[in-house]
Amino acid sequence: MEISDIVAQAASEGRSILNEYEAKTVLKRHSIPTTEIKLARTLSEALKAAKEIGYPVVMKVVSPEITHKTDVGGVVLNIDSDEKLAEEYELMLKRVREAAGDVKILGVTVQEQVDRGVELMIGAIRDPQFGPVLALGIGGVFVEVYGDVAYRVAPVSRDDVLDMISELKGRKLLEGFRGLPPVDLEAVISMMLKISDMIIEHEEIAEMDLNPVIFRGSAGKVVDARVRIVA
Ligand SMILES: Nc1ncnc2c1ncn2[C@@H]1O[C@H](COP(=O)(O)OP(=O)(O)O)[C@@H](O)[C@H]1O
Ligand SMILES: [Mg+2]
Repeated sequence: MEISDIVAQAASEGRSILNEYEAKTVLKRHSIPTTEIKLARTLSEALKAAKEIGYPVVMKVVSPEITHKTDVGGVVLNIDSDEKLAEEYELMLKRVREAAGDVKILGVTVQEQVDRGVELMIGAIRDPQFGPVLALGIGGVFVEVYGDVAYRVAPVSRDDVLDMISELKGRKLLEGFRGLPPVDLEAVISMMLKISDMIIEHEEIAEMDLNPVIFRGSAGKVVDARVRIVA
């Protein structure tokens, strides 16, 4: 699907938020590395998706009414067999129903589980005064707790990205810790430049929230993504 089709589809349903699957499809169109991901509406579709992707996989709930999936028990890591997937599928839907109430659940995504690495947050917003602004910070589910984020007006250059990294209190995480190799800053630069191009090129994108993007050595992959389109 083309970006314009995805945006048009969401708009026709009166939605301004693209779900994770749609957002990752948009990112892939811009050659931004993302986890392999499939949508499943039933358990048998989820099993088929896991077979195609290969275990271990991650399963997440898909609902237009759920923003923070972890908060409602809607993310399951380390699924390594059909049996585990079947069991977790039922448990997850039950848990999400209990936590989130009577929300519309479209199904689940089944995705590749990426190796442990450094979790960064990459964001883009359109500021009424400055126009497109990029954010780079220490990411993960505690992003709001740390508030360790650097901002620059887009478009950004390589040097801007290096400056942003040096502004982060958590920059040492990128130098290697707990057995992780140092992160190749070229991987961060490359991803930031692509996001910068994307927000400039696509005026229909109001906001992007990629959290986390997991970096390990010279690899970086978008693991969770949320895109808001201009209403
Ligand atoms: N495909 C994946 N591979 C490895 N870890 C993942 C994957 N997806 C999610 N995670 C881990 O689970 C956490 C929460 O998942 P995420 O999709 O970001 O949900 P939330 O909606 O709560 O932000 C991430 O910060 C990451 O640590
Ligand atoms: Mg997330």
